[in-house]
Amino acid sequence: MRRVLGIETSCDETGIAVYDGERGLVAQAVYSQIEIHAQYGGVVPELASRDHVRKTLPLIRQVLEESGLDPASIDGVAYTAGPGLVGALLVGAALGRSLAWAWGVPAVGVHHMEGHLLAPLLEDPAPAFPFVALLVSGGHTQLVDVTGVGRYRILGESLDDAAGEAFDKTAKILDLPYPGGPELAKLAERGNPERFRFPRPMTDRPGLDFSFSGLKTFALNTVRETLPEALDPDQARADIARAFEEAVVDTLVIKCRRALQETGHRRLILAGGVSANRRLRERMNAAVTAAGGETFYPRPSLCTDNGAMIAYAGWQRLRAGHVEPLAFKPRARWPM
Ligand code: KG4
Ligand code: ZN
Repeated sequence: MRRVLGIETSCDETGIAVYDGERGLVAQAVYSQIEIHAQYGGVVPELASRDHVRKTLPLIRQVLEESGLDPASIDGVAYTAGPGLVGALLVGAALGRSLAWAWGVPAVGVHHMEGHLLAPLLEDPAPAFPFVALLVSGGHTQLVDVTGVGRYRILGESLDDAAGEAFDKTAKILDLPYPGGPELAKLAERGNPERFRFPRPMTDRPGLDFSFSGLKTFALNTVRETLPEALDPDQARADIARAFEEAVVDTLVIKCRRALQETGHRRLILAGGVSANRRLRERMNAAVTAAGGETFYPRPSLCTDNGAMIAYAGWQRLRAGHVEPLAFKPRARWPM
């Protein structure tokens, strides 16, 4: 099993890549549907599926052509089988399964969060096992004890909103355009961290679970109390964004340190869209290094949804001899 084509269509990005067991990542492209969904303030599932139908095959063709790869040199196909929007997943699954059948190679349905979790292994230096993984995306916030490929134990997770979801909802409260997370982070850069103090949910009790839905309510109340009378509403919005970001980052840092202590591991990897957040990276680095540990992150383009992580996770599975029947079934919900 040398070269695997990866197809990611679980949400609003069409991601295509080829992972080569000898040369690493040899080709990749991501097409984002942001413009399509921006006018609705969030992802419209039906529009997402339709656009994946339009973009996936041309993008595969483009990626293969640009990298000079002959389809006959592809040894396997990996597609995201879940969790995600079921219509969007169906596009990648049907196409991936069909291509594999046409090319006479095996196909594998990959768990989207396993893709995120293994993405740091695409980097040099790659973290060695075991490590603790903090997965922070738009749909998930999880701490995982990782002792090898396929050997995952969930240590804790969000009981309500995911961290990215909290970023996106708070961004909406601050009138920022979709997708809110990166916009909020940008606004927060010129915010004063001292003006407001948000709670650090669930940090005062033992355990590794999270709860982020209270933060958006706190943001809403702060906006209502502050903005109507603010002398400089723009600065006030930036200050609220900063206080919110600090609270999320602080909470994640506290829980990660706790997870390292409990497992005895010294390596921490961060993955998923929110791990692209600069403040989170800086603060996590400082805290983990001070505790004698080490942090690993994929480059930002491998933090958000992409085909490379799916190609890589699929390559790992296929190389281990994983075999799947011709039938396939995407799963909107799928525990890792
Ligand atoms: O992993 P991802 O691309 O898609 C999912 O699997 O959900 O994560 C998307 C999430 C969104 O909630 C987005 O707002 C958030 O990641 N995000 C960020 C940043 N970049 C993306 N949140 C905070 N700061 C960022 N720089
Ligand atoms: Zn994702």
